Amino acid sequence: MSAKAALTLLRANLDQLRSSGRTRVALNEHGREALRHLVREPLTSRANAGPKRVFEQPAPLPPPGPTTPAPVVASQDLIEVPGSSLEEQLAHLAAMAEDDPKPRALGTLRSTMVFAVGNPRSEVMFIGEAPGAEEERQREPFVGPAGQLLTKIIAAMGAKREDVYISNICKFRPSTGEGQGSGNRQPTKDEMNACLPYIRTEISLIRPRVIVALGATASTGLGIEGPVGRLRGKFQAFDGVPVMITYHPSYLLRQEAEGRGNEAKRAVWEDLLKVMEQLGWPISEKQRGYFKPKA
Ligand code: URA
Repeated sequence: MSAKAALTLLRANLDQLRSSGRTRVALNEHGREALRHLVREPLTSRANAGPKRVFEQPAPLPPPGPTTPAPVVASQDLIEVPGSSLEEQLAHLAAMAEDDPKPRALGTLRSTMVFAVGNPRSEVMFIGEAPGAEEERQREPFVGPAGQLLTKIIAAMGAKREDVYISNICKFRPSTGEGQGSGNRQPTKDEMNACLPYIRTEISLIRPRVIVALGATASTGLGIEGPVGRLRGKFQAFDGVPVMITYHPSYLLRQEAEGRGNEAKRAVWEDLLKVMEQLGWPISEKQRGYFKPKA
């Protein structure tokens, strides 16, 4: 059978599964190998996906990661979005968030909506708490000091900011009243709940293989309660997707200012090594050693 015919058959099978309600198909290594052969490129991202993940060094075929159970996305709270492509659906979803009267009716959030950035076909989705001053100004998540650190962390993982998907649990900057300046506060539960259908729908559309929740606000917003210190280091789950909770980059910046930066960075790095292992991303010995205390 020609590769084109095989792809057509595969697409027809997948369409059939989708119309019967299945949105995920687990592939074993044999199936992955067959697909790799068909498309003649490593499946670092989804087949037929947009931009490929780019590594700093030419990447060998990633070793097969542990098989991730097929995520089951809860249907409650999902917003139905029109659109014939993922990009179109996300653009619609962002427009809906912008016009949604619910978060605005709280009267505690500022008016600029900041949605998300990155590759919607990424295997990994980072979720922070809410936009700050710089994010609000640029209408893009994680572009201030914490965002610059997050971009460096992503580079240390061997990816680029534009390869991954970055979003926030709350789509508006929480208000502290008039003359707010550069000051920020964490979003309240009501504020996060008003935005929860958006992040939940984003997750169902992006279908990441792993979510990284940055800080306790993001994890609480996803309904996973507890301090980061207790939750980090092992996978939790949200709507069937594995979630690694780790410290927020702002916490790393604060720890650094107090001279404890390395210890906190190592903790985050150990969490992210687990994420990379789960995704089957290549990890060099050098990467394994980042932020290890000198013996
Ligand atoms: N902190 C967050 O949690 N999100 C942003 O977008 C910026 C800073």
